[in-house]
Amino acid sequence: MQNTELLTPVIPLIQKIFDKNGPDADDYSQILELVDQIPTEEIEDFREAVSPILNPNTIIGFSYTKPFGYNGDFFIIEKIYQQYVNPAEKYKKWDTFFHTLPAAIAVVNRKKLAVEILTKLNETANPLEKQVMILGSGPVNEVNEFLNNHPASALKFDLLDMDKRAIAYAKNKNKNYLGSMNFFNQNVIRFQPDKPYDLIWSAGLFDYFKDKHFVYLLKKYYAFVKEGGEMIIGNFNVENPSRKIMEVLGDWFLFHRSKEELVKFALQAGIDKNKIDVITEPLGINLFLVVRK
Ligand SMILES: C[S@@+](CC[C@H](N)C(=O)[O-])C[C@H]1O[C@@H](n2cnc3c(N)ncnc32)[C@H](O)[C@@H]1O
Repeated sequence: MQNTELLTPVIPLIQKIFDKNGPDADDYSQILELVDQIPTEEIEDFREAVSPILNPNTIIGFSYTKPFGYNGDFFIIEKIYQQYVNPAEKYKKWDTFFHTLPAAIAVVNRKKLAVEILTKLNETANPLEKQVMILGSGPVNEVNEFLNNHPASALKFDLLDMDKRAIAYAKNKNKNYLGSMNFFNQNVIRFQPDKPYDLIWSAGLFDYFKDKHFVYLLKKYYAFVKEGGEMIIGNFNVENPSRKIMEVLGDWFLFHRSKEELVKFALQAGIDKNKIDVITEPLGINLFLVVRK
């Protein structure tokens, strides 16, 4: 490790935190401040200093090492939803800290929002079936929670994910509800729907796409929204207080976007101005572009 000007005073603090097996609540703000100040050229040195936790035993280290080969896989998202804390002494405080990050709370909030939206759609469903498509469906946690509460629902789900491990996990998790679910192990870019949907939902996917792909996919899937239906796309807000720690410790990079950018994309996709809205989860960190038809 280099003794750079910034890192020199930081090392004793990191050592002190490792000596007590991770941060306590009164260390959190100091760590966040520290990470926010790290210049790009010192990120690697900082990562080296915290290397004992940058492995799949911690949530942040799971993100950093990417055991599934990419950021934001179904397994890490599920750990966030379940507020998983590794019980091992040297990791548990770090996982506890992770779950206090506003971005982690926003991810849990977005799942709650999805359940609310499904619940509302369900009120208009029975006895008619309503068709729902989820793009980048991951662990299918929101549908699971919804169906736990509404096992006789007339909502039918098409679930699309390019990772076959995500599909296998989600099928197992939802084994009681497979009669209401069709899984598609495909890439959203290539998938061709063969029916229209009342709701197309996607969270945790479009913020990995460049602008031109965002607009392309929005246009492509909007064509499969029924009259009276809607498509809702989540994207992290440019105002994300956890952005730097996600990037520095988690090596987790996203295309953060503003409300205005999301509206601009919808207009570029040819969607009428009065059919466009942007909503948020309670922290305002996950934005949702809503386009109605
Ligand atoms: C961050 S997770 C979000 C999961 C879920 N939507 C949620 O909010 O809980 C993103 C998921 O999208 C999938 N994915 C990423 N790129 C994809 C693509 N091009 N086509 C289909 N699925 C994709 C990943 O495999 C992963 O399961």
